[in-house]
Amino acid sequence: MEIRTDRLLLRRWREADREPFAEMNADPGVMRYMIASLSRDESDAFIDRIEEGFDIWGFGLWAVEVPGEWDFVGLTGLWPPSFEAHFTPAIEIGWRLCRDSWGKGYATEAARAALGFGFDHAGLEEIVSFTIPANIASIAVMERLGMTHNPDDDFDHPRIPPGSPLSRHVLYRMNSEQWRRRGAAVLNPTRR
Ligand SMILES: CC(C)(COP(=O)(O)OP(=O)(O)OC[C@H]1O[C@@H](n2cnc3c(N)ncnc32)[C@H](O)[C@@H]1OP(=O)(O)O)[C@@H](O)C(=O)NCCC(=O)NCCS
Repeated sequence: MEIRTDRLLLRRWREADREPFAEMNADPGVMRYMIASLSRDESDAFIDRIEEGFDIWGFGLWAVEVPGEWDFVGLTGLWPPSFEAHFTPAIEIGWRLCRDSWGKGYATEAARAALGFGFDHAGLEEIVSFTIPANIASIAVMERLGMTHNPDDDFDHPRIPPGSPLSRHVLYRMNSEQWRRRGAAVLNPTRR
């Protein structure tokens, strides 16, 4: 269940990840668009849930490492949203990296590998991603991946109080056919 890319290793979690993960989850810059930052206990419990998920689904939110440079830069991967909305049940792709590692293309590189795992190995038909409109860095990742947005899909997050600036979410989707067509275009750049 490890994935290697040109620069990254997506792997299962280690005890040594707990401290830098908790630091990241307590960083107000990283958590700016989340409901709240996480305490150390909440951060540790999240890792425990992620690891249980790998055992259940065979995929999950991988810990991301830059071999030889950074043992841990954050997480990227696949996860089923635990709330009900018009697009659920679904598998979501998500990412959260520590600030020092932003601006290097790591989120997009890791996410592309996670999409490949989801479509080519796990046999998923569709993968979604969502965030609030203000989170332009995250939306830029979705767009670089070739995910598509239909404004009719946008939704109010059922776990966030109505009227909160964090309530309205944009939804992006990619299906397996789009993934295969995109893969073919990358292998044969003259095809569109
Ligand atoms: C969302 C998040 C992961 C995006 O990080 P990011 O660094 O902007 O995205 P990437 O890792 O794909 O990097 C892309 C940038 O790296 C640049 N880059 C530099 N070297 C690069 C390289 N070798 N290859 C590709 N891109 C490179 C790109 O040009 C791009 O720069 P730009 O933002 O100025 O256009 C990050 O902002 C984050 O962790 N935010 C907090 C958590 C969060 O909100 N998660 C989403 C919740 S829905």
